[in-house]
Amino acid sequence: MVHSGFLTLGIESSCDDTSLCILQDEKTILALTRQSQAQFHQDFGGVVPEIAARAHLDAIFPLLFRTLAEAGVGLNQLDLIAATAGPGLVGSLLVGLHLGKTLAMMLKKPFVGVHHLRAHFAANLLESDPELPAIGLLVSGGHSALYLIQKPMTFTLIGETRDDACGEVYDKVGRELGLGVNAGPMVDRMASEAGHGIRFTPPMLHSGDYALSFSGLKTAALLAKAQGTEASAICYGLQQAVVEVLVEKTMKAVRHHGVKTLLLAGGVAANSGLRQGMRIQCERLGIRLHIPSLKLCTDNGAMVAKAGLLKFSASGADPLDTQAFSRQPLAG
Ligand code: KG4
Ligand code: ZN
Repeated sequence: MVHSGFLTLGIESSCDDTSLCILQDEKTILALTRQSQAQFHQDFGGVVPEIAARAHLDAIFPLLFRTLAEAGVGLNQLDLIAATAGPGLVGSLLVGLHLGKTLAMMLKKPFVGVHHLRAHFAANLLESDPELPAIGLLVSGGHSALYLIQKPMTFTLIGETRDDACGEVYDKVGRELGLGVNAGPMVDRMASEAGHGIRFTPPMLHSGDYALSFSGLKTAALLAKAQGTEASAICYGLQQAVVEVLVEKTMKAVRHHGVKTLLLAGGVAANSGLRQGMRIQCERLGIRLHIPSLKLCTDNGAMVAKAGLLKFSASGADPLDTQAFSRQPLAG
């Protein structure tokens, strides 16, 4: 197949999902492939960095060739290579980053290193064109934060978690309830099916600012388990408390900053309770709500391709000695 238009290869390997995408122009996903490593980490109860890096190495070349074949694109047709540079596990990041830089050097094509959290927000731009200014809520396995977005891809932090990230708490509570690693989706399903359960106090609900905190909720959930409360009742209570505090603080930020647009981003944006809670409030207040479709919420190569394309359009290519980084705030 012959493709016209600008072709961007996006490579994501920041944690435990290897994912590649070929994006045509601004929004057309020609192929999106992904390989989860969950089975390799299962016995350890969480992501083991050394195992994650090796699993990326095993997965990334077969995925590259599958992605090219599914898209009907030859390596020489690629116009831009984008790979996540951080934040994330450095050993894992290096696998995707080196593949990206090597391809760019071999093919004599431009390379860009992508900030993973920017990429999560860029996922929204694959499916819509949100009007700014906006409030952005990022909820993932490593981050939970609220931003004011006044200009495209420019983020001002207005509040973040003081301790655990929201997804981290889903994963840890889920693990203790015997739901395996990366248990967020399982906790979500059990909560939805339960229909009722125990009540946990939504953390920091009345703190008067945009700060979040989830570690107390985790402790309360684990205590409930130790006292013999059923798993489904705990999942229900956890979800209720998380959704209540996230919806309340986010809508407060929307009102305070007088914006009419809300963007959700990150793996926990796939949560059914959060999606529904936000939809109800946004409809009530006449706020335009943008949430990536489910496959674009959790880590994926498409969001990396999109963020890479935006970065390349704004400021050109990055040098081939671009380094991986484990931490770097989104705002600033
Ligand atoms: O953004 P992401 O794929 O990786 C990071 O950048 O951290 O987010 C992964 C997180 C995990 O904690 C996972 O359990 C959580 O998102 N997650 C969910 C759901 N789907 C994924 N948490 C709650 N409900 C879900 N449906
Ligand atoms: Zn992520």
